Amino acid sequence: KQAQIIAPSVLNANFLNLQSELTAIENGGAGLVHLDIMDGHFVPNISFGPGISGLIGKATKLPLDCHLMIDNPELFVDEFVKIGARYVTVQAESTIHLDRLLNRIRELGAKPAVSINPATPIENIKWVLDSVDMVLVMSVNPGFGGQSLIPYCLDKIRALREMKPELDIEIDGGIKLDNILEAKKAGANIFVVGSAIFKTNSPELTCREFVGTVSA
Ligand code: DX5
Ligand code: ZN
Repeated sequence: KQAQIIAPSVLNANFLNLQSELTAIENGGAGLVHLDIMDGHFVPNISFGPGISGLIGKATKLPLDCHLMIDNPELFVDEFVKIGARYVTVQAESTIHLDRLLNRIRELGAKPAVSINPATPIENIKWVLDSVDMVLVMSVNPGFGGQSLIPYCLDKIRALREMKPELDIEIDGGIKLDNILEAKKAGANIFVVGSAIFKTNSPELTCREFVGTVSA
């Protein structure tokens, strides 16, 4: 049975007070920090890159999950491993040679993970399931925090869970206190939470509430 992990996404955190935001989620029981890397090409938004990610890594004890929503991810995985990412998560749609890229991430010493957009069938990653340490199922179209979960993505999680029962399955997008148990029931065990943690008065207490809800 997999551990249930809350992975706050700092995309909507206060970047002028990142240190205190990171301390808050540490104290709130988070298990991973989820970093959304956006390049303005693969997704219609720009966030931050390996530089800021490295600073975040130095400012927290929590392991980093670097979610690359970028074109040409082959050019950047080395840098994300270098700044200490535990997981380097690449979008299946962003590379032609997915198998090669996942193997490369492992060779470099990080845990490879693959992510699929809502419209991408799980069959597209069937043959690389043994090459990854986690699958990230996007439950919104990537690019922005604060969107609503697309319900059919839960069906994809259910099917994936059946396909490989021991797989770590992360869900990303639109997770709130009132739908996280539905996501857990579908088979997810790692939950990215952005605005529902950082757009509140107390990220620490809210994070703790998420941890309590999902482990109950
Ligand atoms: C979407 C990102 C998500 C997002 C989650 O492109 O990959 O990680 O920031 O934010 P919420 O929880 O607000 O949907
Ligand atoms: Zn993400």
